[in-house]
Amino acid sequence: MAERWSSNLGFLLASIGAAVGLGNIWRFSAVLGQNGGGAYLVPYLIAAFAFAVPLLVFEFAVGRALRTDVVSAFRGVGVNYTALGWVVAGSVLVILSYYLVLTGWVLGFLVATLLGVDLSFAGFTGTWWPVAAFVVTTVATGGIVSLGVKEGIERLVKVVLPVVFVVIAGLAVYAATLPGFADALAFLFTPDLSVLADPGVWSAAVGQVFFSLSVGQGIMLTYAAYMDENTDLWRSAVVITVADVAIAITAGLVIFPVVFTLGLAPTAGTELAFTTLPRAFASMPGGRAVGVAFFGLLFFAALTSAVSLLEVGVAAATRSFEWSRAKATLALTTGVFLLGVPSALSYGPSGFALGDVPFLDVLDESVGTLALPVTAFLIAVVFTWVAPNDTAERELGRAYPVVKYALPVLLPVLVALKVAGVARP
Ligand code: PFF
Repeated sequence: MAERWSSNLGFLLASIGAAVGLGNIWRFSAVLGQNGGGAYLVPYLIAAFAFAVPLLVFEFAVGRALRTDVVSAFRGVGVNYTALGWVVAGSVLVILSYYLVLTGWVLGFLVATLLGVDLSFAGFTGTWWPVAAFVVTTVATGGIVSLGVKEGIERLVKVVLPVVFVVIAGLAVYAATLPGFADALAFLFTPDLSVLADPGVWSAAVGQVFFSLSVGQGIMLTYAAYMDENTDLWRSAVVITVADVAIAITAGLVIFPVVFTLGLAPTAGTELAFTTLPRAFASMPGGRAVGVAFFGLLFFAALTSAVSLLEVGVAAATRSFEWSRAKATLALTTGVFLLGVPSALSYGPSGFALGDVPFLDVLDESVGTLALPVTAFLIAVVFTWVAPNDTAERELGRAYPVVKYALPVLLPVLVALKVAGVARP
């Protein structure tokens, strides 16, 4: 009997777990900080509801109609398309390789904060500890996925997600008591509509929304293959998007008050979560408990996303090679681990780098940032133009042209902007 979620709620929680991750907390605040705060929220929200929601519904419809993984879905179009399916699944696995390294950093900071060890970013990444932490995150992710969709992934999200919601709300309440809260509100919610003319901001917003919602990479397609026949696709897509956006903005409401209270720079980018915040927590009253809550939340949010990335590959490998779930998980986690080792070692004194750019950033900037619109383009074009999916067309209704016409035009423009260096992160 094919795998299924035990209920609609199980599917919704798993998809929210896939969406809510490091992207909402670490990447969102980094991108927002670098793109002018509140100015960026308008294109971000437009991108979420105008483009990401229709593509989510589309992936759901295709996944449920075909009831298969992303590679088999492409293979079904024609044997020649199998390779494109692997491009999609492969890019997800490459993302997973450094995503698990980042999750390992979070784990490192969580343990250090728990033990009261004063850990600096350079002091941590310059050692072998990131590799040890990476082993733990890889084994945990593989262990959960090997248990299956219902017994592994669904059980994890049912325990973890309610905790994530409560903890982030609690942290926001705490942040509201900080002196920098008013400045943070002004920074986050004062829109500057003039930036809407800047294509760089649009490109950053669309890229961030797709990353954050896990859309356009076959992740939601894979999860939809296990969903019930009666699930309301539009309602699910809107609930997932609202939850994802709400968590991102709440994370901003936690991070920026801390940043402004201590007079730090909101533009620190990637360093924000790993350098600025640990230092900030260390200097605040009750900061240790807040730090544990923050990194604990981040760790579990990342784990529920990592399992979704791995499931894309495992679902594909079980069907393509007729492997058991256990064998597919073991083979893929081993591969992902080997691929991730250079990333795990890339921030040390003699770290793996291409020129000046650490290997982890090379992967994030190529596959994580650039491949994302490419895979979204492949999914949108192949299942509308090459092998139109009737169910998807029916489910999308008036929004179908967004996927069939708007995205195939918009996504290549996005890639071009990025390649031309117009786009910011
Ligand atoms: N959406 C999750 C996040 O924002 O962290 C996980 C994720 C999926 C990250 C796909 C990156 C990605 F390309």
